[in-house]
Amino acid sequence: MQFAQDGYKVSGINISELKAHFGTPLYVYDGEKIIEQLKKLQTAFAGCDVKVKFAAKALTNISILKLLKKNGSGVDVVSINEARLALKAGFEANEIMFTSNCIDLEEVSEGVSLGLNINLDNLSILEHFGKKYGNSYPCCLRLNPSILAGGNYKISTGHKLSKFGIPIEQLDQINALIDRYYIKVNGLHIHTGSEISDTEVFLKMASILFEWAKDFSNVKFLDFGGGFKVAYKAGDKETNVDEIGTHLEKLFEQFESATGRKLQMWIEPGKFLVSDAGYLLTKVNTVKRNPTVTFVGVNTGLNHLIRPMMYDAYHEIENVTNLTGVQETYTVVGNICETDTLGSDRKLNEVREGDILAIKNAGAYGYSMASNYNSRFRPAEVLIYKGKAQLIRERDTFEDILRGQVEAEF
Ligand code: LLP
Repeated sequence: MQFAQDGYKVSGINISELKAHFGTPLYVYDGEKIIEQLKKLQTAFAGCDVKVKFAAKALTNISILKLLKKNGSGVDVVSINEARLALKAGFEANEIMFTSNCIDLEEVSEGVSLGLNINLDNLSILEHFGKKYGNSYPCCLRLNPSILAGGNYKISTGHKLSKFGIPIEQLDQINALIDRYYIKVNGLHIHTGSEISDTEVFLKMASILFEWAKDFSNVKFLDFGGGFKVAYKAGDKETNVDEIGTHLEKLFEQFESATGRKLQMWIEPGKFLVSDAGYLLTKVNTVKRNPTVTFVGVNTGLNHLIRPMMYDAYHEIENVTNLTGVQETYTVVGNICETDTLGSDRKLNEVREGDILAIKNAGAYGYSMASNYNSRFRPAEVLIYKGKAQLIRERDTFEDILRGQVEAEF
């Protein structure tokens, strides 16, 4: 978002214009920023034969998927429906990584029949898969490395108590299944969590993946998952992807010279690609001056952006329609019948009813985690690309609230 004399803009388009044209609440994405982030990763890991697979769960809009496809990304999906969306967006089946968890063989088999890369995360599904496919279809193994990483415990997935991945301590059981069913393991995968800024975590993952790859002779790629951190506020530490790239390039080279095998590097960034590119624009419905707190009540809430409530996530908020107002301290809350505080004790230019607030870093896990709670409509989504703002999802209507409901007869 840029500040100009005539107001705040997203990729050159005035926010007031966006509001007038599309209404609020509104998700707005800056397409050029998404591509810039993709290029950053492609450049940082260029020495590692990298394949970037966008974690579609972060922002599943088909137009965003198409934009990423057009710019050389693959995609990581977590359900068969995300896979269908990715195929519809134009991804080839072999560009799609299907990293599911706790699903049944039926869903895995749908993935196989679509020709996806299959990533398995527990011994039971590995056994079912082996029984059904033997060595006729390869799979990747998602490992749980017992590393505690990530910004918040809830988004940390590689530790001992996490449900994700096959614990590395179960190597013997994995090998027994491979031997029994002739399973062909073509990749090894670790995703330790989200918002990891510590280079050491990626290097620890690398040492496990390379160590295992020595013994798994059919392995063609190592998948480091996502988790690259972006800044949510001034002074926040970002993942230094260039530094990680420099280290990993050496490790891939060492592996190749020791084994004669050249491996690909796969990554599955979600937040890194789309978080900072997204804004949730919301209108101020009410300013409620209580004796101790001044609340700003807006026309969005946890139904549209659940991250502050679910992970105590911090999202910067700015009043984009009062450029000169004197700053005051406000607590910004949603209009949902829950305590849905979007930001406490925030300094904002004087907020008046009707002002527009921009909630930042809303591109990842914003709309994709939105709901119709309180029977409210999910917002519209707009993509700004090459100077043009395009509606990429309509705001819900009352028909959406009723869709699928069947009225019982009494
Ligand atoms: N790969 C796998 C296997 C994952 O489970 C995830 C995220 C990613 C990649 C992408 O992670 P990222 O680069 O976006 O950190 N809803 C939470 C984050 C949950 C992430 C779930 N898995 C949030 O809003 O913080």
